[in-house]
Amino acid sequence: MIPTSFTETYELNNGVRIPCIGFGTYKTPADDTCRAVLEAIDAGYRLIDTASFYGNESGVGKAVRTCGLPREDIFVTSKVWNTDRGYDKTLASFDRTMDALGLDYLDLFLIHWPASLKAYGERAKEINRDTWRALEKLYNDGRVKAIGLSNFLPHHIDEIMETESIKPMVNQIEFHPGWAQLSISDYCIRNGIAVEAWSPFARAAVLENETLVRTGIKYGKTSSQVTLRWIMQHGIIPLPKSVHRERMDSNLDSFDFMLNDQEMAEIDALKNLGGKCAMPDEMDD
Ligand SMILES: NC(=O)c1ccc[n+]([C@@H]2O[C@H](COP(=O)([O-])OP(=O)(O)OC[C@H]3O[C@@H](n4cnc5c(N)ncnc54)[C@H](OP(=O)(O)O)[C@@H]3O)[C@@H](O)[C@H]2O)c1
Repeated sequence: MIPTSFTETYELNNGVRIPCIGFGTYKTPADDTCRAVLEAIDAGYRLIDTASFYGNESGVGKAVRTCGLPREDIFVTSKVWNTDRGYDKTLASFDRTMDALGLDYLDLFLIHWPASLKAYGERAKEINRDTWRALEKLYNDGRVKAIGLSNFLPHHIDEIMETESIKPMVNQIEFHPGWAQLSISDYCIRNGIAVEAWSPFARAAVLENETLVRTGIKYGKTSSQVTLRWIMQHGIIPLPKSVHRERMDSNLDSFDFMLNDQEMAEIDALKNLGGKCAMPDEMDD
């Protein structure tokens, strides 16, 4: 499915529906998060992405509680941070997340990063399985509607699936022009795991790119809109972040044109435009 409106949703592998575009909050200051998220909801975003690491969950929760929409209309995601991996620490971290959000349930809870091979060697596999078992418990207890991963490579997913029972519903990965991780997204989609794109603009680094600007001119669109369209035409859910209302609106205005195969291939092939370009197995933690 290629969405033609920001109101469309995908079905996760457990039947839960997830909006086709989300709103990012990394680096949104804690004291400005409630305002930004309220404006995003007013603009039409229904998926809000936060994490304990961002330090702004309470602002997200306050916006969700005060926006005037029923709780079930908003899809809230948070993540367990690297220092809280493992079964017991993950459960405790989830409790802190829910206290900060002030919500009764979460829509999606993710493991923020896999324990890396570089930092943990052979132990990484066991740590990731223990953390996943905590997410399974939260899911089975009805405290979260869906559970998933972030920055997991196919081998990390396979390692969890060798011993654990619930298949992840989502993998959130870095995905932007210049860092089109298509082998990971294809693997996930083939296996019924929805893919979300973090840093869709590589934190604005891609927006001056000549290919993206030129393609946008053809359709009367900006390079940011072309970028989001390219991600969505790959069947991936982008999570653009902005603290500015006009950019929130502009990023939602990315549904009324279609890139052709040649344009898709040209953007797929772009290299070295910036962004984190993280290698999860080589992280220090
Ligand atoms: N799972 C993970 O490991 C992970 C890692 C990083 C991010 N994330 C998630 O993914 C979300 C998005 O990634 P990101 O925040 O790193 O970066 P991003 O969305 O790629 O880029 C955000 C930057 O682009 C600017 N921007 C947004 N829309 C624009 C537009 N239409 N025109 C010009 N500039 C625009 C923003 O500026 P203003 O805000 O000033 O408008 C901000 O500086 C995060 O917020 C977070 O929720 C997850």
